Amino acid sequence: MNNNAEEIVEVIFEYITKIQPLREYEEILMQLAHMGRRLAGADRCSVWVVDNKNKTLWTKVAHGIKPIHIPLSSGIVGQAISKKKQMIINDVQKNSHFNAEVDKQTGYETKTMMVIPMFNQHNKIIGAFQVMNKSQGFFEDADMKYLMLAASYSAETLDAAILADENDQTQKEMIFLMSEAVEKRSKETGNHIKRVAAYSRVLATAYGLSKDETNILEVSSPMHDIGKIGIPDNILNKPGKHTEEEFEIMKTHALLGYEILSASKKGILKAAATIAYEHHERWNGNGYPLGLKGEEIHIYGRITAVADVFDALGSDRCYKKAWPLEKILALFKEERGEHFDPLLVDLLMENLDTFLSIRDKFKDESV
Ligand code: C2E
Ligand code: SIN
Ligand code: SIN
Ligand code: SIN
Ligand code: FE
Ligand code: FE
Repeated sequence: MNNNAEEIVEVIFEYITKIQPLREYEEILMQLAHMGRRLAGADRCSVWVVDNKNKTLWTKVAHGIKPIHIPLSSGIVGQAISKKKQMIINDVQKNSHFNAEVDKQTGYETKTMMVIPMFNQHNKIIGAFQVMNKSQGFFEDADMKYLMLAASYSAETLDAAILADENDQTQKEMIFLMSEAVEKRSKETGNHIKRVAAYSRVLATAYGLSKDETNILEVSSPMHDIGKIGIPDNILNKPGKHTEEEFEIMKTHALLGYEILSASKKGILKAAATIAYEHHERWNGNGYPLGLKGEEIHIYGRITAVADVFDALGSDRCYKKAWPLEKILALFKEERGEHFDPLLVDLLMENLDTFLSIRDKFKDESV
């Protein structure tokens, strides 16, 4: 595991738990800024919020200091927001859009900068995530990748705070965002998350889980691969088959996901942690990471395994083409009572029509 990946996991882990109980808007802003600074290895981070009424951008930099306001289209931040474009600027003082007023107010010299606009769920601009003065060298595209994750999480968090959303709703959306970030990184196509969620719901209902349990499973099953965020790119996106060594590293995504998610004691994230941990266990005990057997594997883990593999086999991956349906069904019959809970394989077969209509409804674009 490279240090970078471990660090990211640690930082996200730390801040999700820190931010979750916060209700004060300014408090949330500052914590998000701390997270951004750590993730980007930068000296400073400001989370800017659009104030549509007063046509300004404002940010809170520290306790006891009043928020700073600048005109809506002012500075490099204003540029990023009006153009809806992320930016890396490594010679800030020479940039024609730079607004020196903020540095004056904070008594600070900005040298390098990276800005990412934040949008709410209706694609409306709500602000920008800005980091300044990388501790070593210049900002690069790789830094941007990590900050995007922070920015999308922040956008969602702030949006929720703005709307004073229900706590549960925030969690759900955060989960979806994070799953999406992972999916994008492993270059998997659009609707994968939605399909896994929908398959899990069908199986949970057929199995007889309660409404509450079914709802929890539906929102948390797409999180099963969140640990892939800690897997180096060259392994995660390798076009061909893994070596044994590479696969050993790949397998750590289960424990890694568990570690990220188990920081929270809240219902949904707790379920998601269990699923991340157990989705590669096998009914016959030959799975990983623990080698659990039969009903030792949580029902959420057993269901997600079926949903995940059904979907993975039917999809193109960087390392293989999608399988035809007959071959997929043959595998499930062969693995009934081996890889998979036999009852769940029966339920899959009984509900095959529903599975196929879900697959059709959330089809991947252009493959
Ligand atoms: P994934 O692509 O989402 O696949 C999830 C699971 O679906 C796999 O878990 C496996 O149980 C099943 N699966 C997917 N494709 C195939 C297939 O062609 N044949 C069979 N028999 N089963 C398949 P597994 O094996 O534990 O892999 C976990 C993750 O590791 C995969 O998630 C993928 O991200 C990665 N991975 C596995 N093998 C390779 C590989 O050869 N090359 C690359 N680049 N990644 C791989
Ligand atoms: C700017 O974006 O030009 C001003 C903001 C700052 O330096 O903090
Ligand atoms: C994901 O769920 O985002 C990753 C891919 C998979 O489970 O097949
Ligand atoms: C791998 O090549 O990564 C191993 C594939 C598997 O055993 O599922
Ligand atoms: Fe997985
Ligand atoms: Fe998966």
